[in-house]
Amino acid sequence: MNQISPAQTDITPEPGPHHPDLRLVNANPDFWYPVAWSADLKRDKTLAVSYAGTPIVLVRPDEGSVFALYDRCPHRQVPLSKGTVNGQTVRCCYHGWAFGRSGRCIDVPYLGKGKLPNGVRTFPVREAGGLIFVFPGDPEKADSTPFPKLAQTDNPKYKTKHFSPRVNCHYTFMHENLMDMNHQFLHRRQMGQIKARFLGQDKGEDFIEARYSFMRCAGQQPLAERLIFGKHKDLQGKEQPVEEVVTIRTEYPYQTLRITDKDGDLIMDLWAAYVPLDKDERVTQSFGLLSILRPQTPFLIDVIWPALGWFTNRIFLEDKEIVELEQAAWNEAGYDRNVEIFPVVKALRELLIRCGIPQDMPPATAEKQPAPPTPAEPATSA
Ligand code: FES
Ligand SMILES: [Fe+2]
Repeated sequence: MNQISPAQTDITPEPGPHHPDLRLVNANPDFWYPVAWSADLKRDKTLAVSYAGTPIVLVRPDEGSVFALYDRCPHRQVPLSKGTVNGQTVRCCYHGWAFGRSGRCIDVPYLGKGKLPNGVRTFPVREAGGLIFVFPGDPEKADSTPFPKLAQTDNPKYKTKHFSPRVNCHYTFMHENLMDMNHQFLHRRQMGQIKARFLGQDKGEDFIEARYSFMRCAGQQPLAERLIFGKHKDLQGKEQPVEEVVTIRTEYPYQTLRITDKDGDLIMDLWAAYVPLDKDERVTQSFGLLSILRPQTPFLIDVIWPALGWFTNRIFLEDKEIVELEQAAWNEAGYDRNVEIFPVVKALRELLIRCGIPQDMPPATAEKQPAPPTPAEPATSA
């Protein structure tokens, strides 16, 4: 009997063409990243968030805009997010040092006439579309860095759903998962059997876009899909052509998925950002805004909203399981063994490498970033 030797089964080439390994490429911090939902930060409160292992405290004073500081008190490294907000300051919960929105230390209750210690690093903040964004990279680049268009959050013709699942994988798996519509096979139980047809792509220095249409080969059109898109023609056992075009675009570092109907009208507009939480960037906090064109029947959207939520969540859970398994396989192998054959994903991987920061190559901006100042102990003590 012919036995297959391990060497014959292991057809994956050793990495080489994969350098740098995509899963060791950090997200580029010189962009605006969402870190929290606006609704989760109340007036006069703080909220602890993080970007790639950097702890950040968001502060919403009673008056004025949100500000963001490095979330460690320079005194004993206690999170400032445990402190209290008074006016435009946050006061550490331990010895009561107070910091203003510029990060400066403005009060040490027991200091007397001594020189005030150094403050903490600040981060530029913007709030839009129900999200709080920070600029974790070089603050001097914040103003000139384009702010993303957040689906249709400012368009009353659409209703927008928020979602923010945390996924235990490198952010690049999320980009690949959504861009590669050839994975509809995974969702066959939720969507029925549909086949993606690749229509074409566009790419540039900082983006790649792929367009698809879909063909239902068998099974019923799910109800939520039918209510949004209308009933597709039932050709009695024949393949049902679907006339919507799905456009998926990674415009670094964000990703969008837009569905237009046969007249070119935008029916669905998804915007997503994948934010690394930990230093190794193997835990990703995603933030998504899904805008759906309101059907002409008033309130129909509100009636179908829970079903739509359930449907999208079921699909998402399948994706989450898969991308986490991909990360687990990377951890097990210790490097990227993927064999990619789809040109769009190959181009996407190049884009993510080109725009990201390889881990063994510290970013020029990281050196320029002010390190959180080292604490200077007060001259006097209580
Ligand atoms: S640790 Fe913050 S004031 Fe002492
Ligand atoms: Fe999927």
